[in-house]
Amino acid sequence: MTAPASLYAPRPCRLLTVSGLTPQEKLFRLQLVDGSSLGHQPGQFIQLSIPGLTEAPISVANSPTRGTVFELAVRRAGRLTGALHKLAPGALIGIRGPFGRPFQLDALRGKQLLLIAGGCGLAPLRSLIQYCQDRPEEFAAVHILYGARSPADLLFKDDLAAWQRSERLDCRYTVDRIPADSCYDGETGLLPRLLSQLELDPANCSAVLVGPPPMYRPVIAELRRLGLSGERRIMLSLERQMRCGVGKCGHCSIEHLTCCSDGPVFWLEEVEALRGAL
Ligand SMILES: Cc1cc2nc3c(=O)[nH]c(=O)nc-3n(C[C@H](O)[C@H](O)[C@H](O)COP(=O)(O)OP(=O)(O)OC[C@H]3O[C@@H](n4cnc5c(N)ncnc54)[C@H](O)[C@@H]3O)c2cc1C
Ligand code: FES
Repeated sequence: MTAPASLYAPRPCRLLTVSGLTPQEKLFRLQLVDGSSLGHQPGQFIQLSIPGLTEAPISVANSPTRGTVFELAVRRAGRLTGALHKLAPGALIGIRGPFGRPFQLDALRGKQLLLIAGGCGLAPLRSLIQYCQDRPEEFAAVHILYGARSPADLLFKDDLAAWQRSERLDCRYTVDRIPADSCYDGETGLLPRLLSQLELDPANCSAVLVGPPPMYRPVIAELRRLGLSGERRIMLSLERQMRCGVGKCGHCSIEHLTCCSDGPVFWLEEVEALRGAL
């Protein structure tokens, strides 16, 4: 069987707009040059390339229900992402994918959802949040809980404000610390604190977690304290350094699993006992 072109050969995409999210992160809106849709599902990533430079895995930050334009929220981390941050609308870049196991929507339908993000984790989770906004009849309730280091690090501030205004969503966010010169007057403290404010029906509740490694264990402990126990209740997305992105090179292994093709989305019980997973 012939592998699909996008498995190994980058497809050209045009950069439509670039906007600042924070001092370190920008939002890039893109479209495939042939006009086709990306064909992703919430939770998947693409391998982004700029001619002459390497590739980097980046999560798709908008929902497939929003048309053929797709969005990437990218932190300036090194050579490739630094070069991307310098591009202007009209530039061409390459993408392979979409790749990876998405959020398991079938398991989430009908449930009260706890969508929990820390830091850059809001980018992939935004795709699922938009999906929930566009298909509200599929979910019993949607709670969004987000934590960032400081007010300046909050991603998607306009979306956060819109989600807070929405009657269909419950959106809460917090920051770890407030600098002396900040006019931020919202919540402070770590993410588990937001969880303790909710009234939940733990028997019909599922959680989706995306964030930096130190976030996982305290949030999982709080979810269990609230009654989310048993299998297939907590789904999480893991990040590993990647090369091929399609399960061939072993660069992203977590014991017997490859993060790029078995994940990046896993059920907690699939990874909890694996060394170095959480
Ligand atoms: C599935 C997945 C989805 C991702 N989604 C996003 C996203 O939506 N937005 C975004 O800004 N970034 C995302 N990343 C991280 C992104 O891929 C890295 O920041 C990027 O590879 C850095 O490339 P670079 O060439 O600019 O930097 P490099 O010069 O390669 O590296 C800069 C620094 O980042 C570290 N680094 C590289 N890759 C990773 C990684 N995977 N995890 C942790 N540290 C890393 C390097 O060790 C180095 O310290 C994602 C990673 C994965 C695995
Ligand atoms: S990046 Fe090659 S196996 Fe995952």
